Amino acid sequence: MTKPKPPIAMLAELTHRCPLSCPYCSNPLELTRQEAELSTDDWSRVFREAADLGVLQLHLSGGEPAARRDLEDLVRAACDAGLYTNLITSGIGLTERRLRALDEAGLDHIQLSLQGTTPEMADEIGGYRGGFARKLQVAEWIGRIGFPLTLNAVLHRRNLHQLPRALEMALEMGARRIEVATVQFHGWALKNRDALMPTKAQAEEATRLVAEARTRLKGQLVIDYVPADYHSDYPKRCMGGWGSTGLNVAPDGTVLPCHAAQTIPHLRFDSVRELPLAEIWYEGAAFDAYRGTEWMQEPCASCERKTVDFGGCRCQAMALAHDPAATDPVCIKSPRHVDLQARAAAHAAAAAPLSYRSAPGKPVPTPAE
Ligand code: SF4
Ligand code: FES
Repeated sequence: MTKPKPPIAMLAELTHRCPLSCPYCSNPLELTRQEAELSTDDWSRVFREAADLGVLQLHLSGGEPAARRDLEDLVRAACDAGLYTNLITSGIGLTERRLRALDEAGLDHIQLSLQGTTPEMADEIGGYRGGFARKLQVAEWIGRIGFPLTLNAVLHRRNLHQLPRALEMALEMGARRIEVATVQFHGWALKNRDALMPTKAQAEEATRLVAEARTRLKGQLVIDYVPADYHSDYPKRCMGGWGSTGLNVAPDGTVLPCHAAQTIPHLRFDSVRELPLAEIWYEGAAFDAYRGTEWMQEPCASCERKTVDFGGCRCQAMALAHDPAATDPVCIKSPRHVDLQARAAAHAAAAAPLSYRSAPGKPVPTPAE
């Protein structure tokens, strides 16, 4: 196999701690405790190693990255390493003073999540009373300071009707970009398929609305769109292809080819505590496992789209087909596709309460607590 190219982007999951309890959380069922998180010095070293490896963009994520008291120091370290920094946040835990400190530290961009476009919806989905009002306040501070802003709206059966308003809110907040992401079922979110699965009609309406808005708002707002996976005919090109453009570092320093890779039981992962990032990227067994196309089975192996979508999502193949090398069952060529569409319809027709993201020691909220 030819030597892989260096990664473009790194997602640093600074912490799994989070004030929200979103039912669609894609973090693993077992969260990393605070005591096991990488230190400021460890992260700073990892950022330098990432820049040396060729990473250009650093996404600072969580959990809620603002739960790290040293966030400003981490941003400064990343900027000193020459990385473009994007903070992915719910806004909870950020004050105007803290945002100004992040600006001073060199933060380049903020991505603000949106759980709904009304206080009732947003606070119910996030399981955090007052979260929506807080977010609007944070958006105002972001605009005042002048950070480039992306709004990130996760949509599902309960809030897909709010898509038009989410687009308006992005414009009102001065965002340059909105990510309209239909819920993806990884990690905790898998528990909530009955509560959150959109109907096929909703999924189609969202696709239509996005297409119409892309034309109408051309030059004003860039719209990134993640369609409803289970209702699609072809899978997403997950991670741009396994081990090809990006990598994730979990709060404890475990290096992952994607967010959900630990759901694939036979993979063994390396840690930045033990090995340099470059060695993990180029030689790590987990990265090699599904790189390129040689691992593929039929129908992917002889498919003309195999370098377009790389067989879809390995973690979804694991979750739905119990085989990470299988064709993603979303694909119309998969023998499991018809069954998946039937299951999607059944999930969409089911009535189930939200199962809130819980964490050790954290009370599970009642709606809009
Ligand atoms: Fe993609 Fe495999 Fe489906 Fe072809 S068969 S479209 S490569 S998932
Ligand atoms: Fe792991 Fe898609 S989330 S490959």
